[in-house]
Amino acid sequence: MTDATAADAFDADRFDGEDPRTRRRRSLRLLGELVRPERGRFALVAVLIVLVQLATVVGPAIVAWGIDTGIPALAAGDAALATAAGVAYLAAALVRGGATYWYLRASTAAGQRVLYDLRRRLFAHTQRLGLGFHERSASGRVISRQTNDPESIRELLEFGLEGLVGAPLLMLFTAVSILLMDWRTGLIMLVMLVPAALLTRWFQRRSEIEYRAMRTHSARLTADFVETFTGIRAVQAFRRERANRERYTALADDYRAATLRSIRVFGIYQPSLRLLGSLTVALVLLVGGLRVVSGDLEVGVLLALVLYTRRFFQPIDSLAMLANALQAAITALEKISALLAEEPEIVAPEQPIALPPGRGGLEFDDVAFAYSDDGPRVLGPVDVRIPEGQTVALVGRTGAGKSTVAKLVARFYDVSAGRIRLDGVDLRDLDADELRRAVVMVTQESYLFSGSIADNIAIGRPDASRAEIEEAARAIGADAFIRALPEGYDTDVHSRGGRLSAGQRQLVSFARAFLADPRVLILDEATSSLDLPSERAVQDGLERLLGDRTALIIAHRLATVMHADRVLVVDDGRIVEDGTPAELVAAGGRFAELHRAWRDSL
Ligand SMILES: Nc1ncnc2c1ncn2[C@@H]1O[C@H](COP(=O)(O)OP(=O)(O)OP(=O)(O)O)[C@@H](O)[C@H]1O
Ligand SMILES: [Mg+2]
Repeated sequence: MTDATAADAFDADRFDGEDPRTRRRRSLRLLGELVRPERGRFALVAVLIVLVQLATVVGPAIVAWGIDTGIPALAAGDAALATAAGVAYLAAALVRGGATYWYLRASTAAGQRVLYDLRRRLFAHTQRLGLGFHERSASGRVISRQTNDPESIRELLEFGLEGLVGAPLLMLFTAVSILLMDWRTGLIMLVMLVPAALLTRWFQRRSEIEYRAMRTHSARLTADFVETFTGIRAVQAFRRERANRERYTALADDYRAATLRSIRVFGIYQPSLRLLGSLTVALVLLVGGLRVVSGDLEVGVLLALVLYTRRFFQPIDSLAMLANALQAAITALEKISALLAEEPEIVAPEQPIALPPGRGGLEFDDVAFAYSDDGPRVLGPVDVRIPEGQTVALVGRTGAGKSTVAKLVARFYDVSAGRIRLDGVDLRDLDADELRRAVVMVTQESYLFSGSIADNIAIGRPDASRAEIEEAARAIGADAFIRALPEGYDTDVHSRGGRLSAGQRQLVSFARAFLADPRVLILDEATSSLDLPSERAVQDGLERLLGDRTALIIAHRLATVMHADRVLVVDDGRIVEDGTPAELVAAGGRFAELHRAWRDSL
């Protein structure tokens, strides 16, 4: 992939094939939704900005009046007019200062409020999106949606009104004042506006490219960083440090180069624009000076014209910069609104059916499943009944579809065809909370969150008492090692001394599941990190955890499998053998083969 296409692919995100107009409409709708609650504040900001520009623009007029009317009067012994000019100038400055202070506060408050709402919405939405979305999306990109993109929008919200309303207004007011005072000067200015406009157009074309490149490179840098450090174990295990460092350095270098290019463009633009401004001032001074000498123009007016001319060119470069901020904000809005438009794949039932009393009987009715609409069929047809209380082991070669069965029972995905029923109710008709309470999946990762061991066990049932938490740990045989930790159950799992071994982490997640006391328990490779003694130690605990509860166990170890009431051999998405471990060994099929291989390896 060439650099350009890689960058485009990153920037284009998931827009492939979408009509740009739909995208724009969706972004504008989002902007409207975000701004609406704060529209009062934004209106206030707009009014204050107009006030600031008015107070700014009267300054030179007051100076001209003071010089041309106040000073002659002062010379004649009347100080009133000169004093009035001084007071008026001061008053304008105070209004300007006060209004600026007020509008900066208001616009920051409004911008931050919008950002706060956006962040909450993004977080809640991204969290609600199904496992399908997260298994598809690179985490770095999801992180960019929560960090860089809202920042771009904030910049627009906080400074956009000033640029969009303030700068054009200031230019307009200034131009009107100049034309009212002396149209000849106005003409000079209008002529000089032509090269300034051409220069600005050039800057915009060039900088848009560079700014886009900068943003793309910065996003890629973030994504690369995230990927390296989420995979740091593999990075170090396979000595990928040097390769990763080189790749990261290359990305950082691209970013630096793009930034330098953009600054170089700005470095040409801004001084040139200033030069044009100064040239105009010089011309105004020259032409106006000659007219003052010939008596056509008063000195005070000339001074005001010079001040106005200087001011006229000032907002042009901030307008040009605003165009970039606007571009960044539009892109960010498009990406964020695309993420927010992403529908959770798991739809809550309109009329949830309450789970009847039961102990987790499962029925698969002609279930088939593919991870995507056009993807290969991974499961099916699967037609099997698991009576309540049965412990079922799923075995089969890697990629056979065992974890997929588990993910379907936990409703991380919906079946593509057929249905799965829990105690007689289709999973899709169950309220999500009720389903989460009824079906608990423990995986090999046994993820622990920041917080104490007790907190982590309590995730199983947040309202559990401390005694219940400890009881759960005791039941599955984790109590002894937890008590041996520096602060026992209150040990922070992420602080020093609180680090747990893989097996210990699994015991904690068993305790979590025990506390949750679900109708159906799913263990996906969950016993594979336990060494033999601890496995033996935990065997009783595991037995208590399983109890007479319905359980699906996916394990490569036959020791665990042999304890099951029933074994289902999965192959290529189908169940090819079904029976008690002893029956299957006797039948001499695949399971018998596996069993023999296991015996031989001992
Ligand atoms: N998120 C996914 N998107 C697309 N295909 C997937 C996804 N997860 C798994 N698959 C595919 O589905 C098939 C079944 O995968 P599954 O994870 O169920 O296998 P498994 O039996 O659990 O294997 P293992 O014993 O290695 O864990 C595989 O061919 C796999 O490539
Ligand atoms: Mg698996």
